[in-house]
Amino acid sequence: MSETHSFSRRELLQGASMLAATTAMTALTGCGPKRSSSSGHGLPGVDVSGSHSLKAHAMDARMLFGFAVNTQKLRDDAAYRALVEQQCSIIVAENAMKWQALRPAIDQFSFADADALVEFAASRHIRLRGHNLCWHEALPEWFAKQVTAVNARQLLRDHIRTVAGRYAGRMHSWDVVNEAIDVKDGRPDGLRNTPWLQLIGTDYIEMAFRVARDADPSALLTYNEYGIEQETQDAAMKRAAVLLMLRRLKQRNVPLDAVGIQSHLQAQSAYGTGLQRFVRDCREIGLEVFLTEMDVNDRTLPSDIATRDITVARLYRSYLDLLLPERNVTAVLTWGVSDAGTWLNNGKDRAREDGLPQRPLLFDDHLRAKPAFVAVRETFDARRQAGALRSTPTPQKPLPKL
Ligand code: XIL
Repeated sequence: MSETHSFSRRELLQGASMLAATTAMTALTGCGPKRSSSSGHGLPGVDVSGSHSLKAHAMDARMLFGFAVNTQKLRDDAAYRALVEQQCSIIVAENAMKWQALRPAIDQFSFADADALVEFAASRHIRLRGHNLCWHEALPEWFAKQVTAVNARQLLRDHIRTVAGRYAGRMHSWDVVNEAIDVKDGRPDGLRNTPWLQLIGTDYIEMAFRVARDADPSALLTYNEYGIEQETQDAAMKRAAVLLMLRRLKQRNVPLDAVGIQSHLQAQSAYGTGLQRFVRDCREIGLEVFLTEMDVNDRTLPSDIATRDITVARLYRSYLDLLLPERNVTAVLTWGVSDAGTWLNNGKDRAREDGLPQRPLLFDDHLRAKPAFVAVRETFDARRQAGALRSTPTPQKPLPKL
């Protein structure tokens, strides 16, 4: 899908009216509107609460919707917490379950934040994804000094047993291995040359999944990856390497249930049939697909906020229109709750040249719904309608499930 056609009238109207409302309310209050107590967080004319929430529309389309959350904000910021409760049927810790957060020392675990998140989710009947058990980033400082080829295998095994075991039966899914492919590292199998690969060997991936299944038999075990979304040669090669690895794991009966497509999108990039084919290939080998970390990097877009918000909304819409008709796509999560906390505003390499903050998410930095919220909700409705059409009963055939 190219991003060349012009905005629809509906999109322009939505964008313009939401922006006008934002500007008017900001002018009135000086700091943006307070959250409305009864109708939730929406701007006038856009109700985002109750049956109008993303979780409600997702559920009608047989999907889960949610955010990556910051555990500190969830504890300290009531408005943030209310928005999570209002919109999410699933959440994931943005950082609280990574090694760096859980492992202050090689022989210690610190579970306070992760435990609090598990309790929060359980008490609100929100499903929880675990992110992640094995990754080459977010490793604690002691890792480089203390982990060797002698102790690495046992350390990874113990970590997965302890962490996945602690929350067994309470997790929707675990990202068991995150980002294990990097074609640029030059290996014929496409594996990234990570510390885990160097210290344990190529079977670290298989080992991680097997230990995770033993520790928590009910969580959906997921392989999570980025850089496989676009229609570029690089992404196509990475998709091929990921699929090769997934097929090999399946052939060896490694317990693997789902693929996470991170979906950190770039404004003005093309997404299309290559990725759609990938999702279908995943279905053929029996894998569910979760869109695990959606956001839109807007650094190539002009400064003007209305233009940016509408362009970002259009990309959410076209990306989800591409993938949500695939029935094995069962969850959509954005990487963050609002533009206020997005990781895209940390780090020079992601900064906009005009110095303005990025606006990659569905809610603005005052937790007000943006045009992208409406776009995403409509893609959920389109999936529901397509599913309903497909399941129209015929005399001979039993009703297919959505
Ligand atoms: C990011 C977090 O958002 C940041 O707060 C942190 O500083 C670095 O990690 N892919 C992943 C996520 O799998 O864990 C990353 O999260 C974003 C890219």
